[in-house]
Amino acid sequence: MTSAKIIIDKNEYEFPLITGTEQERAIDISSLYAQTGCITLDNGFQNTGACASAITYIDGDKGILRYRGFDITELAEKLTFVETAYLLIYGTLPTIDQKSVFSRHLTENSMLHEDMTHYFVGMPPHAHPMAILCAMVNSLSIFYPHSFIDDDNPAVFDLIAARLISMIRTIAAFSYKKSIGEPFVYPRHDLRYCMNFLNMMFSSPVKPYECDQEAERVLNKLLILHADHEQNCSTSTVRLVGSSMVNLYASVCAGICALWGPLHGGANQEVIEMLEDIHRKGHSVQDVIAMAKDKNNSFRLFGFGHRVYKNYDPRAKILKDACSSFLSGRSMNDPLLDIALELEELVLRDEYFIERKLYPNVDFYSGILYRALGIPASMFTVMFAIGRMPGWIAQWREMHDTKPFRIGRPRQVYVGSAHRSLP
Ligand code: CMC
Repeated sequence: MTSAKIIIDKNEYEFPLITGTEQERAIDISSLYAQTGCITLDNGFQNTGACASAITYIDGDKGILRYRGFDITELAEKLTFVETAYLLIYGTLPTIDQKSVFSRHLTENSMLHEDMTHYFVGMPPHAHPMAILCAMVNSLSIFYPHSFIDDDNPAVFDLIAARLISMIRTIAAFSYKKSIGEPFVYPRHDLRYCMNFLNMMFSSPVKPYECDQEAERVLNKLLILHADHEQNCSTSTVRLVGSSMVNLYASVCAGICALWGPLHGGANQEVIEMLEDIHRKGHSVQDVIAMAKDKNNSFRLFGFGHRVYKNYDPRAKILKDACSSFLSGRSMNDPLLDIALELEELVLRDEYFIERKLYPNVDFYSGILYRALGIPASMFTVMFAIGRMPGWIAQWREMHDTKPFRIGRPRQVYVGSAHRSLP
């Protein structure tokens, strides 16, 4: 079958049926209004494909996630975050030369314009790092305005992409230093991407950071797992905002704002605070589960459930294993990991969660690893944003390259007052 029929008031209309690489099917209704005068209504875009994309594939029923065709487990095991970023944005694994040019771009664009560092001075030390991140990433368009005038030029795009991937890491580390009242540690040209970040976070004038390769490996893994996830809330935001032809800085800044919410990337901070509450206040895991099931209570079990995965999120599986091996490798005992494991075990046996196919998602175990790396909970969503940056850039670029180019502009069904006159 290559078409689908819709019958309205006994009239039959035909629409093309599109089949994706993995045989997933969609009805192309772009001519629906012109043909029938109707639009579709889909609250929360549960069934709406906003684009055709060649970047990331998810099979939510089977728990499959692939970037550019490569399985996430293999990528997280064998690639670095920088190689993954290249793969997402440019569509192929980098050759040795491409990798060295890309890494050089990242290194050369890691320093913030010195005047930007003064912005941090005026920010209160208790400001949420995500608020700082949004403000600072948008400020890049103040300091580097020349570069988006010509963003159809591939060299200019390459520069802006490298600047965003590299500078978000510097901004994140500076915001942490600001929050603890320590001087900024500048990026170093001799360190790799993740090690450079750890050094900017944890070096201080009194104690230099001792390069820790296991921590670097874990951070690479975490960032790779967050690097893209097709048309989620923040990525759709980047595409929609970018479709007005605004520059890439502004588009990803909108994505960062969307990511902040607790139903999306903000869930990782919520998870750890929930586990800490259970630990500190002595709540039982059973009480928390009962609260999440109570329809009169708006509380949700953060780190569980997903719009697309109706099976175990493969990222959660990788992170669960990484938590156990990283913590046991350093003889660390985090009581929050024990609580998380107990919570998961009970949830997966509970009828409420089974019926609704609610499994741990990426945010459930990531916080335990970030804690083990010494990163505070308020920074967790910032870490998600650092990881997601290449995905946002790749999706923005793909959207721009799609022909015919169209501004994103959903419709609505108006249900307000009919026409009336002023009294
Ligand atoms: N705890 C308790 N009940 C839940 C949960 C949860 N975490 N998630 C979904 N449900 C229930 C929900 O109440 C509803 O029940 P009913 O059918 O009786 O009304 C049913 O499951 C379906 O939920 P939904 O809200 O319609 O599902 P959705 O696809 O719109 O929402 C979600 C997906 C991720 C927003 C939701 O599962 C949730 O709020 N989870 C907690 C927040 C979280 O962990 N977010 C991170 C998502 S993964 C990282 C990312 O991509 O951002």
